[in-house]
Amino acid sequence: MSRNETATGAVPLPAAEAAGPEAAAPARVPAHVAIIMDGNGRWATERGWPRLVGHRRGAERVKEVVAAAPGLGIRCLTVYAFSTENWKRSVEEVIGLMRLFSRYIEQEADRLAAENVQMRFIGDRGRLESRLRRLMDGIEARTRHNSGLRLTVAINYGGRDEILRAARSLAAAVAAGDLAPEAADEAALAARLDTAGLPDPDLVIRTSGETRISNFLLWQSAYSEYEFVPTLWPDFTPEMLGDILGRYGRRERRFGAAGG
Ligand code: FPP
Repeated sequence: MSRNETATGAVPLPAAEAAGPEAAAPARVPAHVAIIMDGNGRWATERGWPRLVGHRRGAERVKEVVAAAPGLGIRCLTVYAFSTENWKRSVEEVIGLMRLFSRYIEQEADRLAAENVQMRFIGDRGRLESRLRRLMDGIEARTRHNSGLRLTVAINYGGRDEILRAARSLAAAVAAGDLAPEAADEAALAARLDTAGLPDPDLVIRTSGETRISNFLLWQSAYSEYEFVPTLWPDFTPEMLGDILGRYGRRERRFGAAGG
């Protein structure tokens, strides 16, 4: 990721892709898109089906969006799969979701590796069962050197929890004398977040019509653009993502600077 790309949050599309009918200037594409995949439960309940059916359909949508992302010019894609608050759901739903994550890794590993995807996970793995953790470690190690789409899946992730863990690590480094207190700056904290090395998201999308950020990437999304769409996640398509990217391309991002 070049310095210029992270500063503007935008990478020009290759000329052929950018040259649409009304494309006078190269389209701006967000380098990093993060998605709060909401609405699986409602989608299933509306049809009289168990919530897990909605999650299963949601996992299919993840596959489609991951496959489409590089063609849309996205370099990094982060999806919120399970929050630190989601443990409050029924045991049946939690176990079903954990199985779905394991199955996704098992079924998709070869395809992700072949498509040059670099996969990683953020969140606290301590509470996850060992089999899922092994699968997560395995796919991360297998795809670590891939140079294509950087796919990040948030499991047992909470923005406050992540910042707290990073702050503790920083405090421990200062207490041990490894870091001067005045060196405990933004960069030092960011380097201790689960997302270390990943650019901040340019665009955060939430499906299902809810307009909350629900503890997602709290530190990283300080200057992100937000898009809230009414579609429930199991109905979300790559075409809808393309439309959202089109709207993003017309936004002006100022990163705190004054407008013209
Ligand atoms: C929120 O919808 C969604 C979740 C808590 C789970 C997200 C999981 C998936 C999309 C499936 C698998 C993911 C991967 C990466 C394989 P909700 O259940 O809160 O919906 P509701 O608000 O309608 O109840």
